[in-house]
Amino acid sequence: MEQQKKRVFSGIQPTGTFTLGNYVGAVRNWGALQEEYDCIYSVVDQHAITVRQNPADLRRQTRETAALFLASGVDPSKSILFVQSHVPAHAQLSWVLGCFCPFGDLTRMHQFKEKSAKHPEDINGGLLTYPILMAADILLYGTDLVPIGKDQKQHLELARNIAQRFNGIYSETFPIPDGYIPKVGAKVMSLQEPEKKMSKSDTNANAVVRMLDEPDVIMKKFKRAVTDSDNCVRADETKPGVTNLMSIYSACTGKSFEEIEREFEGKGYGDFKTAVGESVVAVLRPVQDEYHRILADKEYLDDILKQGAEKANAAAAKMLRKVYKKVGFLSL
Ligand code: TRP
Repeated sequence: MEQQKKRVFSGIQPTGTFTLGNYVGAVRNWGALQEEYDCIYSVVDQHAITVRQNPADLRRQTRETAALFLASGVDPSKSILFVQSHVPAHAQLSWVLGCFCPFGDLTRMHQFKEKSAKHPEDINGGLLTYPILMAADILLYGTDLVPIGKDQKQHLELARNIAQRFNGIYSETFPIPDGYIPKVGAKVMSLQEPEKKMSKSDTNANAVVRMLDEPDVIMKKFKRAVTDSDNCVRADETKPGVTNLMSIYSACTGKSFEEIEREFEGKGYGDFKTAVGESVVAVLRPVQDEYHRILADKEYLDDILKQGAEKANAAAAKMLRKVYKKVGFLSL
C-alpha cells in the first residue's frame, strides 16, 4: 500500500522583498519539498494587515509573492498555492482556536513584544492574536511539518499547545505539527556587517542582496562587500566577511570550502568577489526571468490562484466542519 505523504504547510507574508538569504534558506527548497511531501503554500495577506498596509501595494505584492512561489519551482499540479483571504476557514478556525489559547501566552510572544515596541501608535488586536491565525493556517490542513525560521519557532510552539489542548478536551482532532529544518541551506549574513544575519528590513542597501536585484546591482554589492585586510580566501571565525562570501559561493555552486580555498589560492579578494557575484547571478537569473514572465500573464496567475483557493477551501472546510461539530455548534 502506498504510504500517504506527510503534509507540509508554509505561509509567506506579501510584504517586503525577498533576499538572497531567504532564497538560500527557504525559497529554493519550496520546489524540492513537493517531491517528497504534500505541500500547501499560502500567501498570508491576512497576517500582513496587522501592520498598516497600502491597499494597492498589498494587492500587487500578493500577486508578486504568488509569482515568486511559482518561479521558484512550486508546481500547481503537485502543490496547492493559494491566498489566505480566499479561504474563509482560516479566520473561522482562528476564532475557535482563540478560545483555547491563554491570553498570557499571546502577550509573551517575542514578535508581539518587538512589533508593539516598533509600532507603539498601533498596537492592535490582530498583532496580539496573529499567532492564533497562524495556528489556524497550520492546523486547518492536518499539517505534519512546517518549514520555519528561528523567528517563528515560538509561534509554532503555540500552535502545538493549542492543538494538544483541543485534542485533550475533544479527542484526537489535529496532528501535532513539527518544525521542518531543510537539509541543505546556509545562513547568509549581511554583506556590510557579516556578524548580523542578512535582513529584509536592513536600511543599508549594500548589505542586502534582493532576489530581484539586477545582475549589475548584485555585482556591485559583492564588490563592496566587507572582507578584511588579509587578502586570503579562507574560512575562519576571525574572518566573518570572507567566510560569509565563501558560504554564499558554496550554496550557489555546490563547491566545498576546501575546493573554494584551492580555487582562489594565490588570488586576491577582487577575483573572489567577482566569482561570488557571478555565481549568485547565475542562480537568481532563471528565477527572475520566470518571475517576470509569470507576472506579465495576470490571467494565468489568477487562474492558478483560483484553482488553489478551490482546493484549499475543500480541504479546509472538512476540518472546520469537524471542529464545529466537536465544540457543539449546531448544524442544520
Ligand atoms: N508568521 C509567518 C512569518 O511571518 C508567516 C506565516 C503565517 C506562517 N502563517 C504561517 C508560516 C503558517 C508558516 C506556517 O514568517
